[in-house]
Amino acid sequence: MENQLIKGNVVAGDENKMKPLEGQMSALPDLFQAIPKVELHRHLEGSLRFETLRELARIHGLNLPPTAQLREMVQIGPNEPMTFVNFLSKFSTLRLFYRTPEIISRITQEAIADAAQDNVRYLELRFTPVALSKSQDFPLAEVMDWVIEGAKIGEKKYGVTTRLIASVNRHESLALAAQVAYLAQERISQGIVGLDLAGNEADFHAETFAKLFQSAHEKGLHITVHAGEWGPGDNIYHAIEHLRAERIGHGIRVFESQPALDLAKRSGTAFEVCVTSNYQSGAVSSLSAHPLPKMIEEDLAVTINTDDPSISQITLSDEYRLVHQQMGIGTSELRRRILAAARSAFLDSTENMQLVKRIGQEFDTVLAAHSKV
Ligand code: ADE
Ligand code: ZN
Repeated sequence: MENQLIKGNVVAGDENKMKPLEGQMSALPDLFQAIPKVELHRHLEGSLRFETLRELARIHGLNLPPTAQLREMVQIGPNEPMTFVNFLSKFSTLRLFYRTPEIISRITQEAIADAAQDNVRYLELRFTPVALSKSQDFPLAEVMDWVIEGAKIGEKKYGVTTRLIASVNRHESLALAAQVAYLAQERISQGIVGLDLAGNEADFHAETFAKLFQSAHEKGLHITVHAGEWGPGDNIYHAIEHLRAERIGHGIRVFESQPALDLAKRSGTAFEVCVTSNYQSGAVSSLSAHPLPKMIEEDLAVTINTDDPSISQITLSDEYRLVHQQMGIGTSELRRRILAAARSAFLDSTENMQLVKRIGQEFDTVLAAHSKV
């Protein structure tokens, strides 16, 4: 069980142990790939193609270790400690690669190309301006404009409706976060729709950022906060009540806190759950310990996401396959999860309704085609 989530989720031989669900659905290899998907929680910095990293290292003369060792520095391997410290350490290496405006635009476009390949129809890509600016000390405003430009090109070229979320780390300074929030507010009309709080939840409380997030919300940015991932369930209550979070990143410790559970239900707050990431970062000890089925049973607005696809070596299709085959989530429930994601998108209400309608119709078409086989 422990190794199931390494590399494509399923260890050879495990296929036979999977429960077939809802008739013959799980016998159809491409269903999870084929269904139209909505991704609400994907970090740009965790989406860099490994081949691109190697190419950039070559072009820019970066003195990097051989391939296998480099892989270990940016991806989760089978023999690593499944801890948030190890998980977050991958981002320190990744920060070395953001060396020119062209690279930042390119990796943004490639993230959208990869989403398109995976039949993601709507993508909210979050990016961390402070991380992208680090290696060359780029001005934050320029970095944000390069991502915006890359996203516009990628959206047009690959046909994935794309919106951006500016992300700040709670283990970095409030002053930097304030600059990012201000610059994001200025760029709402250019596709930055939200502000996210990420980073080391175990050691840094969100309280420091409460006023900033309240103000950003009042200025028109949607809010999502990583909470109840590596920190206690109470953090979910705090994020909704004090940071105005409309969505929670992960939130898998919600059952630790009755006030958080009650408030999330009352407010319809969506949960951006990322199963493989949760296992690899030590937020859950095993797949069977993951609360996703219970969160669905409790009628929370659960959505399924990747978090950092290249660090985890997964696609969103892999995650849908995983929850279907290993956690007993049937295809009609998958449909509900995708529609929950569409409903929770940081779009205006008309766009939201259109997205829900379009995704629902396409899902039904794909499922009907697969059922005929
Ligand atoms: N940054 C990237 N992935 C993250 C995660 N899972 N939790 C907090 N911060 C992150
Ligand atoms: Zn995340």
